[in-house]
Amino acid sequence: MDQLNSLPYLDRVVRETLRLYAPVPETTRVAEKDDVIPVSEPFVDRFGQVQDSIRISKGASILIPILALNRSKKYWGEDAHEFKPERWESSSEAAASVPGVWSHLLTFLGGPRACIGYRFSVVETKALIFVLVRAFEFALAVPPEEIEKKTSVVQRPQLRSAPDQGAQMPLLVTRYTRE
Ligand code: HEM
Repeated sequence: MDQLNSLPYLDRVVRETLRLYAPVPETTRVAEKDDVIPVSEPFVDRFGQVQDSIRISKGASILIPILALNRSKKYWGEDAHEFKPERWESSSEAAASVPGVWSHLLTFLGGPRACIGYRFSVVETKALIFVLVRAFEFALAVPPEEIEKKTSVVQRPQLRSAPDQGAQMPLLVTRYTRE
C-alpha cells in the first residue's frame, strides 16, 4: 500500500478520475427540522428575489450534487471539465473549502456519514491500474458514441444499442510488449 501510494502520477490519475467521473453522482438528505442555511454569496431565487440564506422545512429532501461540485469551474478553473491529472501537482486553493472527506472532492462525501471505504477503494483502484496497464493495452471495441451512462445510485456504462443487456463496456485488450 505504501509503495502504491508513493507513485505520484498514479495518484494524480486516480484523483482526476474520481473527480471527473465520481461513481456516485449525487445523493440526498432529508431535513429533520426547519432550518435556515446561510450561503456564502447572495443568490436570486425562482421568484426573482435576492436571498442571503436558504429556508429549509422539516421533511424537505435536499439533493447533494456531488458530480456538479467536483466539476465546478469556480473550484477547479475553466478547464474543470477536462481530464488533467497534472492539476494535482499543486492543490487548488479555491477548492479548499469543499468539505469532502478526501481530496477536497465530494466523491466520498463528507461529514459523519461519509464513505468509510474510501482509503480501501483508492488503494484498490491503484492496485488494479498498476497491474493492468503494465501488462495490457486497452481500446474501446465500439465507437465512443455507442457508450452511454446509466445511473442507479452508481454510474455505469452501457451500450446505446443494447440497454437491455445491462452494464457493459466492450474493450479490445492486447498484451503490452516492451520494445
Ligand atoms: C469508488 C468507490 C466508492 C465510492 C465513490 C463511494 C462513495 C460513497 C458515498 C458518496 C457515500 C455516501 C452516500 C450517502 O450517504 O448518501 C458512501 C457511503 C458508504 N460507503 Fe462508500 N464508496 C466507495 C467504495 C466503498 C467501499 C469499497 C466500501 C467498503 C469497503 C464503502 C463503504 C461505505 C459505507 C459503509 C457507507 C455508509 C456510511 C454511513 O452511512 O455512515 N464504500 N460511499
